[in-house]
Amino acid sequence: MKITVFYDSRTNNTSTMAECIVEGMMKVDGVEAKAFHIDAIDDEFATASEAYVFGTPTYAGGPTAEMYSFLLNRAAKYGLAGHLGGVFATQQYIHGGADVTMLRMAETLLVFGMMIYSGGGSQGSPVIHFGPVEVSPNMDAFKDLFRIYGERFAKQAVAVTK
Ligand SMILES: Cc1cc2nc3c(=O)[nH]c(=O)nc-3n(C[C@H](O)[C@H](O)[C@H](O)COP(=O)(O)O)c2cc1C
Repeated sequence: MKITVFYDSRTNNTSTMAECIVEGMMKVDGVEAKAFHIDAIDDEFATASEAYVFGTPTYAGGPTAEMYSFLLNRAAKYGLAGHLGGVFATQQYIHGGADVTMLRMAETLLVFGMMIYSGGGSQGSPVIHFGPVEVSPNMDAFKDLFRIYGERFAKQAVAVTK
C-alpha cells in the first residue's frame, strides 16, 4: 500500500519531521511511503496512495497560506474521500498554536470525506492527541515521536484498507 505525506516547509523543520513519519511508516509490512513538499508532488504516487498525512509549520496560529491553498485548490484531485487522513505540525513556541493548526487542516479533510486518525489515547505512551507536534529548536528530541506516529498511522491504514 502506498501512503503519501504532503507537507509545506520553508526552513526544513516540517520536512525533517515528514521524513521521520515516512521512516516509521516503512516499518509496516507492505507499506511504501513517500513525503512530498506541496510544490514538488509526484502525482502518480500520490494518486495511487490509499492514505494521506498533511503537515505544516504553524504560522500565526494556523496552517501556512500555501498549505491552506493546497488543501482548498489542489488536494481533492488525489481522490481523498473515504481514505484515512492524518495531520501534524511544527511550531516555535510551546503554546504557539499547533493544535489549532492541525484541527484546521483536519476540519477540511473531514469536509473532503476523509477518515481522520491520530491514535489518540488508544495507543498508550506517547499519547498523540490530534497529531504529532515538533517544537523548534529541539528537532532531534521529537524525531522518535514522529516515527512512532508514522508506524501507528500506517498500521491503521493497512487495517482499514483490508
Ligand atoms: C510567518 C511566520 C509565522 C509563524 N507563526 C508562528 C506561530 O504562530 N506559532 C509558533 O509557535 N511558531 C510560529 N512560527 C515559527 C514556525 O512555525 C516554526 O519555526 C516552524 O517549525 C517552521 O517550519 P519549517 O522549518 O518547516 O518552515 C512562525 C514562523 C513564520 C515564518
